[in-house]
Amino acid sequence: MNVYEQAALLIKEANDVAAFTGAGISAESGIPTFRDPGGIWDQFDPEEFGTAQGIMSVMQRRPEVLREFLLNSVDTFQKAKINGAHRALAELEGMKKLFAVITQNIDNLHEDAGNVNVLEVHGNLFRSRCVSCNQRRSLNKDEFLNGARDVLEDRDNFSLQRVIEIMPRCSCGGLTRPDVVMFGEAVQRLEESYDAASRCDLMLVLGTSGAVYPAAALPHQAKQEGARLIEINPSENSYAGITDVYIKEPSGEAMPKVMDSLIKLMAH
Ligand code: APR
Repeated sequence: MNVYEQAALLIKEANDVAAFTGAGISAESGIPTFRDPGGIWDQFDPEEFGTAQGIMSVMQRRPEVLREFLLNSVDTFQKAKINGAHRALAELEGMKKLFAVITQNIDNLHEDAGNVNVLEVHGNLFRSRCVSCNQRRSLNKDEFLNGARDVLEDRDNFSLQRVIEIMPRCSCGGLTRPDVVMFGEAVQRLEESYDAASRCDLMLVLGTSGAVYPAAALPHQAKQEGARLIEINPSENSYAGITDVYIKEPSGEAMPKVMDSLIKLMAH
C-alpha cells in the first residue's frame, strides 16, 4: 500500500477529521512561506515586519522599503488562487469527514475553497479590526487590494496617513487595521482550536514548520487525545515523533492523490 492509500485508509476509518495548516499549503498558490530558504523572514526581518511596532519604525525610517514590502504583498495576494490541497480539504468538509480547518494562514484561501469551519489562529488579512472598539468586519478582497495598490503605487504621496486610510473607518468612528496577529499579540480562536484538536480522531498536518507556539502545540494535543496524524511537507517531517503517515511532497500534489485513493477505497 503506497502512502496515499495509507493516508486514505486513515481518513476512511476516521469519524472526525481536523486539518492544521501553515504557509506551506499556500506555497503552490504563489504565497511565499516564512522559513523556507528565500522565504519572507529571509528577505525581511521578522522583528521589523512581523510586529506592529517594527512596521511603524520602518515607516518612519525607511518608508520606501515598507512601500515595496506592502506592494509586493498586494501583488502576491491578488495573484493567489486556491490549489489542490485547499480543494481537497473543502471536499472532505463537504463529505462531512472533516469538521474543522485550523489554519495559521491569513490568506483566506480555505474560505475561498469552500471550507466553512475555519479557525484562523493568526487572523485574516481580509478582515478589519477597530483599534478603538475591537469590532471586526469582513473586507471585500478585491476592493481592499485595489485600494491598497492605488495608495502604494502613488510613490510621491506615500505616507503613514495614506496607509492608514487604506482601511475603512469603523462605525464607531475609530481607525481600523487588518485583523492579523503579529508577533507578541494574542492569537485568536485558540480555545476552539484546542477543542477541535482534542475532538478529532485524525489530524491532517499540512505545510507547517511547527515553529510557532501556541498554535504549533495543536498536533501534540490531538495525539495526546488519541488522534492519528498525517503530515504532508516536502522538506521536513515537523512532527516526526507523532506522525502515523508522512508524505514528503508538496501538499497541492499529494492531497489530490490521497483523495483519489479515498474515492477508490470508499467505492468498495
Ligand atoms: N506543501 C506543503 N508544505 C510546504 C510546501 C508545499 N508546497 N512548501 C513548503 N512547505 C513547508 C516547508 O517545508 C515548511 O515546513 O511548509 C512549511 C512552512 O513553514 P513556515 O514558513 O515556518 O510557515 P508556518 O509553519 O505557517 O509558520 C507559522 O509563523 O511567522 C509566523 O505567523 C506566521 O503563521 C506563521 C507562523
